[in-house]
Amino acid sequence: MKNYQFNLSHPVFAQVARAAAELNLQTYAVGGFVRDQLLGRTCKDIDFVTVSPNSGNQQHGMELAQKTASYISTDLQVNYFKNFGTAQFRWQGYDVEFVGARKESYQRDSRKPIVENGTLQDDQNRRDFTINAMAVSMNAANFGELIDPFDGLEDLEKKLIRTPLDPDVTFSDDPLRMMRAIRFATQLGFTILPETFEAIKRNRERIKIISQERITDELNKIILAAKPSVGFVLLEESGLLEIIFPEFQQLKGVENYEGKGHKDNFFHTLQVLDNITKATNNLWLRWAAVLHDIAKPPTKKFIEGTGWTFHGHEVLGSKWVPKIFGRMKLPMGAEMKFVRKMVYLHLRPIALTKEEITDSALRRLLFEAGDDIESLLSLCEADITSKNREKVKRYLMKFEVVREKLKEVEEKDRVRNFQPPISGEFIMQYFGIKPGKEIGIIKEEIKEAILEGKIRNDIDEALQMMQKLGEKLGLKKM
Ligand code: CTP
Repeated sequence: MKNYQFNLSHPVFAQVARAAAELNLQTYAVGGFVRDQLLGRTCKDIDFVTVSPNSGNQQHGMELAQKTASYISTDLQVNYFKNFGTAQFRWQGYDVEFVGARKESYQRDSRKPIVENGTLQDDQNRRDFTINAMAVSMNAANFGELIDPFDGLEDLEKKLIRTPLDPDVTFSDDPLRMMRAIRFATQLGFTILPETFEAIKRNRERIKIISQERITDELNKIILAAKPSVGFVLLEESGLLEIIFPEFQQLKGVENYEGKGHKDNFFHTLQVLDNITKATNNLWLRWAAVLHDIAKPPTKKFIEGTGWTFHGHEVLGSKWVPKIFGRMKLPMGAEMKFVRKMVYLHLRPIALTKEEITDSALRRLLFEAGDDIESLLSLCEADITSKNREKVKRYLMKFEVVREKLKEVEEKDRVRNFQPPISGEFIMQYFGIKPGKEIGIIKEEIKEAILEGKIRNDIDEALQMMQKLGEKLGLKKM
């Protein structure tokens, strides 16, 4: 990395440099953009910081944005956030933001406006980590030069997360940074410097002053990383997990009774989560992995002759999903319902591998899972964890059989998106009756008969059955 080379070929850089010269403002690209360029990652957010020889940095950020935008196009819309002294526009797929250098902590989404002017060094001081505190000059005298007062470049090489100032100061400026440290460590595969990590432990309670939305945003980024277990282990070790996600903390530990222990559900869940990352980037399926065993602790029982059981944990867990989603400010619509369904059904496909597989059991599963059957199967495959590789292989093979059979049954019976072959309207017309409980009874019995395989999922067989049921209920054809 010593021969770092910035790619400043995007036309925005030339325009910013021109505007900065015109306005006599010292300007730098900073933060995540610089870090990601040095790491060879693409970054579509570019932050510019500007320093004026005179006062009024905050206003100058806006002027610079305006001038740059005016060179690009008269139609380019610049958004101003006066309270924060920032201005932003989107151009050619890039999100470009301008801000005046600050003396105080840099928090993009802090509610308190920050106005005090600072030098470039002040601004870099108040950023979260050395790897995020590097700047690249946009000024004619040294265009493209790296300004790196805290050896962020060296930390990138050493794969180290470290705060520029005393970590107690940096974390107290914005306690969310404790989670950001863990998130960057997880995303980038970096190590948090021990002194920095100790400060997270010391300051962990301060996370309570941070809004749930910001916390959840970081947690989601951890869950979306290639190996989310890294982040959860760090959250646990730092003491943050207990505060932000107590149910997950509760999964930790093994109880022994008469020499028999059970799996540590914390590490098991993390294994499932890491496994599912190979199958999907879908955040909600990953959340289903996070929550699939969440209610194991309160359902745990030791039964003589059987050992440890967690009877009903899938039912209780599914009931917890809306509670946890609500508290975490996660979306309560289709996403929550999907996760709730996954948690509720997560034992079913595995149960099928253990018994004689009947078509009716397969049909019922298809009916309940509907279009989410593939997601459910991925979750269940990820849930097969054991230190014994042979055992895992055996299970996966059996599981393949279930997958095949599900396919066969679906092709034959099409129950995945089950639509009753006979509608309530039709029943009412046929027997000349008004809405009433008979209609529900007939529809339910026909559905059950199809799922049980007593009749086929087709109109003729359903019609015959409807006639018989009608007779039993004392109904006559109109
Ligand atoms: N920053 C900070 N403290 C925060 C948030 C942000 O010091 N709590 C600074 C860092 O210098 C960071 C920059 O603001 O690099 C931009 O923040 P943001 O866009 O939130 O993060 P990125 O570092 O760009 O990373 P990502 O896009 O992955 O969130």
